[in-house]
Amino acid sequence: MPDNPYNEIPYPTFPRLRTHPDRLAAVGTLFGMSPAPVTRCRVLEIGCNDGSNLIPMAYALPESRFTGVDLAEAPIAVGRRTIDALGLANISLVAADLRDIGSGYGEYDYIIAHGVYSWVPAEVRDRLMAASGERLAPQGIAYISYNAYPGRHLNQMLREMMLYHTRNVPDAAHRIEQSRWFLKFLAEGRLVATPWQTLLDQEVTALLERRPGSLFHDDIAETNESFYFRQFVEHAGRHGLQFLGEADPYEMFDPRGSLAWLGDDVLEREQYLDFLRARRFRQTLLCRDGIPLRRPPGPEQMQPLLFSAPCTAVEEGQIQGLHGIRITSGHQAVQRVTSALGETYPLPLTFDELVPYAGDRAALQDILFGLVTAGFADIHVFDFPCEDTVTAKPKARGLARHQAAESRFVTNACHQVVELDDVARQLVLLMDGTRDREQLAQGLAAIAESPSLELTREHLPGSLEWLAGMALLEG
Ligand SMILES: C[S@@+](CC[C@H](N)C(=O)[O-])C[C@H]1O[C@@H](n2cnc3c(N)ncnc32)[C@H](O)[C@@H]1O
Repeated sequence: MPDNPYNEIPYPTFPRLRTHPDRLAAVGTLFGMSPAPVTRCRVLEIGCNDGSNLIPMAYALPESRFTGVDLAEAPIAVGRRTIDALGLANISLVAADLRDIGSGYGEYDYIIAHGVYSWVPAEVRDRLMAASGERLAPQGIAYISYNAYPGRHLNQMLREMMLYHTRNVPDAAHRIEQSRWFLKFLAEGRLVATPWQTLLDQEVTALLERRPGSLFHDDIAETNESFYFRQFVEHAGRHGLQFLGEADPYEMFDPRGSLAWLGDDVLEREQYLDFLRARRFRQTLLCRDGIPLRRPPGPEQMQPLLFSAPCTAVEEGQIQGLHGIRITSGHQAVQRVTSALGETYPLPLTFDELVPYAGDRAALQDILFGLVTAGFADIHVFDFPCEDTVTAKPKARGLARHQAAESRFVTNACHQVVELDDVARQLVLLMDGTRDREQLAQGLAAIAESPSLELTREHLPGSLEWLAGMALLEG
């Protein structure tokens, strides 16, 4: 096996909703594209690692086809074992250099490259962009994430200090340990100048929370480049690609109109938004040059979409949605719409399903446009089918059962990571569709250190409802 750091130190890859064809298609639809249907599409993930993002997509979308490519053989082998265990026939993982992605790979409706562009040498980076341009279908959408300036400057200072501190440490595990020691030394010693300490505290805390594999491959990696948005878009342009949007659509909006002085220049506005927000990471969506895009999107573009938001009532009549964003609205219609979204979350609702809550279509499109541009609600084109009721012999998703055998983190029908407590994890493992409630209760009670059978019976309905509400059941 060649000397590849990703073989030596595992990288924690996990499902990312923002890379899902549903999200890419939703943003494409918002801007007037006609993306391929999520249920019947071709997806290429470049730098897929062990397939932890791609495999759940393949599991949920049996009529779509998925190809993952990664240079590191060890994670590819892990992913292939998972694919075999799940019996998936619509996905293949290839151990290959992305520079070898040629015409033999065919054409893709969606191309994903998360955490690759900034972390590979310039020549490989250029091939990544070239392959995205060459392999993208006419209405295809590519997702490429990268470290962005100006926000990344601060993190870069710490990266350079950690690299300096570990410059004579060849061993990977020791480098991680020494980097963490240095971060703690900087933060806890309170030795640095006061203005710098304030900035430092936040950065160091975030870095210390990172898993060892992330710290090693992301922060103290040999290559870790950052780019201004305009540089990235110019690079895309050289390979026949244009800026479509950001994978988090709300990041493209400027609700206060602070940048109105820039006029209609979308690229210029995006660059200045990065200046205003000190953006440090981008998840940019690209499509082929020459595709007419309808900008800016307005409330009428809400009608073909679906919507989701984890709405909860918080103090003083406020409602909290995604990204911790809170709204205060005296409007009954807004309250009814957000309450309906909260009840079905994480499953989305269609525009038509939400009309009765708003009263009429015009009112609803305005409400939803406000929620989406504020970042309160997500947009979708796919309704993520799953079993949302607890049947006589409830069955947990096969993927979740497979994951629960190894970990407390499982993937739900909406491509989200759900953390299970010990009981839920054991329950998921038992729920293969052959056991009724009594058998499940007995199975749980038989596990060492469990509460009594009586208590287990009492709590079981609540646990089952919770799993159903988390979109973890299947028919
Ligand atoms: C930071 S990790 C990101 C992994 C995954 N996409 C994620 O987001 O968790 C970068 C991945 O790119 C892969 N990689 C690096 N250079 C590559 C190349 N030349 N060809 C294919 N994959 C490459 C690495 O092996 C690694 O799995």
